[in-house]
Amino acid sequence: KPVPVVAIDGPSASGKGTVAARVAEALGYHCLDSGSLYRLVALAGIRGGLSFDDEAGLAAIAATLPARFADGRVFLAGEDVTDAIRSEEASGGASKVAALPAVRSALLDRQRDYRHAPGLVAEGRDMGSVIFPDAGTKIFLTATAEARAERRYKQLIEKGMAANMKSLLKDLQDRDARDAARTVAPLQKLPDAALLDTTEMDVEQAVGFVLDRVRS
Ligand code: C5P
Repeated sequence: KPVPVVAIDGPSASGKGTVAARVAEALGYHCLDSGSLYRLVALAGIRGGLSFDDEAGLAAIAATLPARFADGRVFLAGEDVTDAIRSEEASGGASKVAALPAVRSALLDRQRDYRHAPGLVAEGRDMGSVIFPDAGTKIFLTATAEARAERRYKQLIEKGMAANMKSLLKDLQDRDARDAARTVAPLQKLPDAALLDTTEMDVEQAVGFVLDRVRS
């Protein structure tokens, strides 16, 4: 019997990372944050002085990426880059390297390797469409761009960082457009995915929705 997979796809800052981690914890499943792989490729590319249109160079980085995940932290060749991969530069770069087919295929097997018993919660843009098309549960988790920008704004302010609502919203909309318009693995709601709009929901409610789908 195949190892069960819960695929959660959706746009940036929708809260799917938090929801996926909580669902995985509740079920005792492993968790894959696929976006961090694209962020790591972007960061390694920036550091190596590569241009975001150097498809062969970035694919080579993706194929041999010395990434490790432990205790909620992300490591690149042993260095803790948890915050660095969330910088504006790495975030913007991630959605650019993610549009390159050779980068996506270099990360394919690495993502599928996360599928271990007792199960996997995988979150990203193409978990249900490309990486785990046979997932038993598929969720499209979203919220309006305004609600997502507002959440990001609050997070930054709480961390004592500078934030500008207008530029956050613009940034999200640009990334949404890039993720939806690309020819390889565009972000889309699949016909067999359940729509979870969290605009008016808290994390608790969203987690409850996913767990109900898994158990039914
Ligand atoms: O989910 P997160 O915002 O961390 O993802 C960063 C970028 O990686 C996204 O903007 C998207 O372009 C890309 N991505 C992707 N496919 C995935 C996960 C993320 O293309 N499965």
